[in-house]
Amino acid sequence: MTDKVAKLVIGDQTHEFPVLSGTVGPDVIDIRSLYAKTGMFTYDPGFTSTAACDSAITYIDGDKGELLYRGYPIDQLAEKSNYLEVCYLLLYGELPNKAQMAEFDTLVTRHTMVHEQMHYFYRGFRRDAHPMAVMTGVVGAMAAFYHDSTDITDPQQREIASIRMIAKMPTIAAMAYKYSIGQPFVYPRNDLDFASNFLHMCFSVPAEQFKVNPTIAKAMDLIFTLHADHEQNASTSTVRLAGSSDANPFACIAAGVACLWGPAHGGANEAALNMLKEIGTVDRIPEFIARAKDKNDPFKLMGFGHRVYKNFDPRATVMQATAKEVLDLLGVHNNPTLQVAQALEKIALEDPYFIDRKLYPNVDFYSGIILEAIGFPTSMFTVLFAVARTVGWIAQWKEMIGDPQKKIGRPRQLYNGSPARDYAEITGR
Ligand code: SDX
Repeated sequence: MTDKVAKLVIGDQTHEFPVLSGTVGPDVIDIRSLYAKTGMFTYDPGFTSTAACDSAITYIDGDKGELLYRGYPIDQLAEKSNYLEVCYLLLYGELPNKAQMAEFDTLVTRHTMVHEQMHYFYRGFRRDAHPMAVMTGVVGAMAAFYHDSTDITDPQQREIASIRMIAKMPTIAAMAYKYSIGQPFVYPRNDLDFASNFLHMCFSVPAEQFKVNPTIAKAMDLIFTLHADHEQNASTSTVRLAGSSDANPFACIAAGVACLWGPAHGGANEAALNMLKEIGTVDRIPEFIARAKDKNDPFKLMGFGHRVYKNFDPRATVMQATAKEVLDLLGVHNNPTLQVAQALEKIALEDPYFIDRKLYPNVDFYSGIILEAIGFPTSMFTVLFAVARTVGWIAQWKEMIGDPQKKIGRPRQLYNGSPARDYAEITGR
């Protein structure tokens, strides 16, 4: 709270509203009493100027291109930490000591298997179903398998549901991939780290043991870390809104998966790689830049622009470096897709249209190049985003459930439909 107030003059009335400050970032005007005082709503479709909650988990400074997880800069975590340690940090607020990390690692590791009956649940899907369609269904169905951790009023059940979600998402994702290619499911292995275990479950076959390449596993782990959380983005806001009705955590995360699938959000990594392939060669870039600028053409440069970042997305910077490292390791030199991406980035960042609108590459622009090089089909890209973001969704859900100010989310509207009118019999219409 500050002693600052915001004054709103409506007609001959002046209304005062308290101004609240966080630890960093913009102050907020507390307008909870606006409707009672003025009989008016605010109007903010897309929530461009609306803070929907308090949170201490992730902070983004869009102008500086800064991203902090519990205060730690993403570039430091990318260089020095790992995904499971970042999960602990996001969930509990502090970096773990050795004993805490070992205990958390064991806890997550021992929850990576899924109920054997879930294998039959997959059988109902067509083999050619999009893996995100499968994920949306299977994650929601977890409430049908783990009844003993759906009571959100019980802190113990909230904790076990959180661990189950983080631990089982890679298994569920790998199963969706295996099912889509007609290969048998591969069980998790407790002797592998989080990223290596995921690669093992995706690429091992009964006929031969998959040998995890440590550099690839490190790149996979880094991609998970970069995607772990991102403040109140669309899918996280969806999880919070679903959770505000006291829905069980599996249903809330399933809602987040569904929202993430959209190409304007988490589906952009798949769309960005498809776009780079459609462009194909550097000489075709101007044609696509023109389309992106044409208001009559719905085409947008996928992987470009961001609601918050009006500078480089710090995750894109790390991702670009990792893309080159992975391609070099795999001996994929002169990758045409990477060449198109680098040329497109250069051309776009020199074009006034993109400069004026502060449109920069975002996290999705380079990630697809790495994921394709590792061996994933584009249809799996958003699935991997969902695996990584599960800890962010869960951390934000836990924070909301534990908030004493928690209320069910129920926005209002500016109604421009028909005023009240009497029913007209069909004979008179
Ligand atoms: C993610 O919110 C998060 O944190 C999300 C995320 C996370 O980690 O959770 O960071 C992950 O979703 C990243 C974003 C991935 N999406 C894409 O790459 C899809 C392409 N990007 C655009 O759809 C768009 O940039 C958004 C959706 C990301 C942001 O849209 P905004 O903030 O609503 O901005 P806008 O649509 O109002 O655009 C402002 C202007 C418009 O032009 P004018 O009307 O002012 O003339 O910029 C233009 C837009 O047409 N514009 C683009 C563009 N993005 C915006 N023009 C061409 N290509 C683009 N990519």
